[in-house]
Amino acid sequence: MATATTPLVAQDFDVQRVREDFPILNQLVHGKPLVYFDNAATSQKPRTVIEAERHFYEGDCANIHRGIHLLSERATKAYEEVREKIQHLLNAPETRQIVFVRGTTEAINLVASSYARRNLQAGDEVVITAMEHHANIVPWQMLREEKGIVLRVAPISDRGELIFEEFEKLLGPRTRLVSVAHVSNVLGTINPVREVVRAAHRSNVPVLVDGALKIDVQELDCDFYAFSSHKVFGPTGVGALYGKVRLLESMPPYQGGGDMISSVSFERTTYNTIPYKFEAGTPNIAATIGLGAAIDYVSRLGIENLARHEHELLVYATAKLSQIPGVRVIGTAREKASVVSFVLDGVHPHDIGTVLDQEGIAVRTGHHCAQPLMERFKVPATARASLAFYNTKEEVDALVEAVEKVKQIFV
Ligand SMILES: Cc1ncc(COP(=O)(O)O)c(C=O)c1O
Repeated sequence: MATATTPLVAQDFDVQRVREDFPILNQLVHGKPLVYFDNAATSQKPRTVIEAERHFYEGDCANIHRGIHLLSERATKAYEEVREKIQHLLNAPETRQIVFVRGTTEAINLVASSYARRNLQAGDEVVITAMEHHANIVPWQMLREEKGIVLRVAPISDRGELIFEEFEKLLGPRTRLVSVAHVSNVLGTINPVREVVRAAHRSNVPVLVDGALKIDVQELDCDFYAFSSHKVFGPTGVGALYGKVRLLESMPPYQGGGDMISSVSFERTTYNTIPYKFEAGTPNIAATIGLGAAIDYVSRLGIENLARHEHELLVYATAKLSQIPGVRVIGTAREKASVVSFVLDGVHPHDIGTVLDQEGIAVRTGHHCAQPLMERFKVPATARASLAFYNTKEEVDALVEAVEKVKQIFV
């Protein structure tokens, strides 16, 4: 990946050393060392990210794009540099293809409200999968209510994998957009987005990827790509939408206000160029600068090194949890990110979560904003341990011990 710093090599990855970069990890919860396994909800932030935000507020705080004074110039430069970092991270051809948004949810809503609202008519179809987050379901349903579009849902197997032939069958003459998660936040399934894009493009259908992993947008050739900063060790409240120039230029603005215009009179307003025409109002400048620091941080550690460590943890946690009688792992795709959802016979996931919390272990329980997926697996909820590169095998052992304790209490 393009980065100003040289990544560490694999053997240099020292998880204990890396943990020191995350101040939050060093604390007791209910008298036990914190084990943070809720990374799919939001990841923790390294000190450099926290310091980047602090540096902005202590030294450079000003609004961007509008001031000619030095602080505004510095803030604008720092802000726009992050756009370039994202461009390099995704290997986007041009910086103007990176639109800052509040996060993945806003990015998808932008595409739905601007691209899809303009281009789709009653009866036109949007194809998603059965493993989508509500953020990639509800915006299309809202458009369905407004315009009468049709939502088609590609089914998944019992392992939690997209049934590709069924997905392909849904691509018909009325398909106008495919919108898929790269990684299921519940199952951990990594979808075959390359094949999805190829199949959709054969029918001239653009593809939006609800992103999670590092990708090369040119190689993947997706038309839109959305991600949230807070999932990649950056602050909450910011994210980005990548789009192909032709599409972004053809799209009407999403919101009106300051910064997205070229000129305004009561008779007529002309809009700014991309990406600014989609960036109305004062953005979360500090968080955006923090996102830049997060990108630098993971680039320095080497995204491949982090993925390798997370994969080792996934294999270890899956094996250990599966050995506990009564535990069923939901989501056993062959290509998986480090998410382990599970249920335990006779115990509601909320009870699992409550007991684990008492042991200092933070997992997520519930439907994970994917209620249709819970129905697909006929479970009301799951407990979900989502692992990050700062987690350790010892923490997985603590989780396994705590699940045994849950059994002693409830079963
Ligand atoms: C797969 C997936 N898509 C979309 C979202 C929505 O992201 P955000 O809440 O950051 O906008 C999430 C968040 O958990 C997610 O896991």
